[in-house]
Amino acid sequence: MTKSEFFSELSASWDREHSRPGELERLRDFAGHFRLGPGERVLDAGCGSGRLVALILEEVGAGGSLVELDFAPGMIERARLKTADPRVDFQIGDAHDLPFPDSDFNKVIALALLPHLDDRCAALKEFRRVLKPGGMLVIAHQLGREALDRLHAESSGPVRRDRLPEKAVLAGWLATAGFSSCEIVDEPGQYIAWALA
Ligand SMILES: C[S@@+](CC[C@H](N)C(=O)[O-])C[C@H]1O[C@@H](n2cnc3c(N)ncnc32)[C@H](O)[C@@H]1O
Repeated sequence: MTKSEFFSELSASWDREHSRPGELERLRDFAGHFRLGPGERVLDAGCGSGRLVALILEEVGAGGSLVELDFAPGMIERARLKTADPRVDFQIGDAHDLPFPDSDFNKVIALALLPHLDDRCAALKEFRRVLKPGGMLVIAHQLGREALDRLHAESSGPVRRDRLPEKAVLAGWLATAGFSSCEIVDEPGQYIAWALA
């Protein structure tokens, strides 16, 4: 089974799994780390079932726009059900080969995506390419590296070998991809990187 098929199959239960008591509030708090602002054009890469749609739209406001992109058709089908808002575009696509022109976005958010990418460096270069100068990539996980790696190692299916890089490794990849600066935190409960194009 490919990863895209794996995530498409998971899509039916994804929202249920992430709607336990307190989960939405926790995500809302966590979304503060995305540093979103009014009028921004945002790419939600590996958007899954669209858990972030409402939160992002609230922050970017009437003048903003959002692309929800995922390579698993099942996830995009679910995400589409979340809104008919004209500010949102839904696309089935691969983070390694983004269907957007250079310098298209103010912000790229990759929530719980990085470990699953086959060629992380190639995807980071794509994120850098589609960001406007001064735009920001936010790589975010609601678990620290050790806990997330353990979770994947204990899972079955094609994600069991997926791992997050140590901070210094990620910093090197981001520099190679052309980001001018980055800040990375890895602590219990969160692993977040902010990188400036
Ligand atoms: C762990 S889920 C996270 C989904 C969503 N960001 C969330 O937090 O609810 C990872 C998502 O990344 C997607 N994905 C993995 N590799 C991808 C790739 N190369 N291009 C686009 N999407 C990808 C999967 O289909 C899946 O929906």
